Amino acid sequence: MAIIETQNLTYVYSEGTPFRKVAIEDINISIEEGEFVGIIGHTGSGKSTLVQHLNGLLKPTSGTILYDGKDIHSSKEFTRSVRFNVGLCFQYPEYQLFESSVYKDIAFGPQNMGLSEEEINEHVLRAADFVGIKKEMLKKSPFDLSGGEKRRVAIAGVIAMEPKVLILDEPTAGLDPKGRDTIADMIDNYRKSTGSTVIVVSHSMEDVAKSASKVLVMNKGQVEFFTGVKEVFSNAQRLVEIGLNVPQITGILMDLKAKGYNVRTDIYSVDEAKSELLRFFKERGVL
Ligand SMILES: Nc1ncnc2c1ncn2[C@@H]1O[C@H](COP(=O)(O)OP(=O)(O)OP(=O)(O)O)[C@@H](O)[C@H]1O
Ligand SMILES: [Mg+2]
Repeated sequence: MAIIETQNLTYVYSEGTPFRKVAIEDINISIEEGEFVGIIGHTGSGKSTLVQHLNGLLKPTSGTILYDGKDIHSSKEFTRSVRFNVGLCFQYPEYQLFESSVYKDIAFGPQNMGLSEEEINEHVLRAADFVGIKKEMLKKSPFDLSGGEKRRVAIAGVIAMEPKVLILDEPTAGLDPKGRDTIADMIDNYRKSTGSTVIVVSHSMEDVAKSASKVLVMNKGQVEFFTGVKEVFSNAQRLVEIGLNVPQITGILMDLKAKGYNVRTDIYSVDEAKSELLRFFKERGVL
């Protein structure tokens, strides 16, 4: 059974005002336990609005969200338990660090769950370890950390609740390439070692292609695709049409195809592209 499912989910901001905006419309998706879903889409396509529904933070204008088969708004208690089971890390989460030490910031979530001091301590240490925050750093003020470190502390704060579903909204946005790689690896490790369901919103097709098992492509508040990585890339042309950047290597193959050369365009890794290009050149007798 799906761990998260949405049925006809629609959300409208500022209903009844001149600023009315339908942010997401009629979203029907089903996410299985242990899946790694990448969500991509143009700016304003509704990614953040959608994920904020999955842990009950936003309440649908219409439609339903099910967690483990049950409507997450069926009772106050259930909504509360969903908040802890579905951990959401916001876009630019470091702006929400506010405690006097890194330890306290990471402990905030587990504390709200009503765990004992000992359990809180265990959760904090495990989460810090996952994100590569060393013990010495736990005493520091979060404001004395680098941008990448702050981001990792904020993510640790969500991981520390040990949620069944971890949702990260653009976890690598604004970081340098090294910071991006560190966080991407960390998320991969987390998923592999815990078996948790992971949902990552990303602007980078390349990042999504590397780790996700399924991709949700949002376009103007609606679902354009929700399928395997390979299937999504077999629609590379459509991705470009809706304003997404395909990986550089996919772009090169698309250019060749547009020039009339018979190459595959559903390729998104350098290794695969290499074999495809070798095949192509051999076929033409160049090699
Ligand atoms: N608080 C708000 N009030 C009114 N409209 C909003 C609000 N938040 C978002 N919107 C609008 O809803 C739509 C979807 O926004 P959302 O932030 O979900 O998109 P997104 O895909 O996450 O974009 P980005 O890639 O820029 O983060 C956009 O048109 C946006 O302008
Ligand atoms: Mg967003």
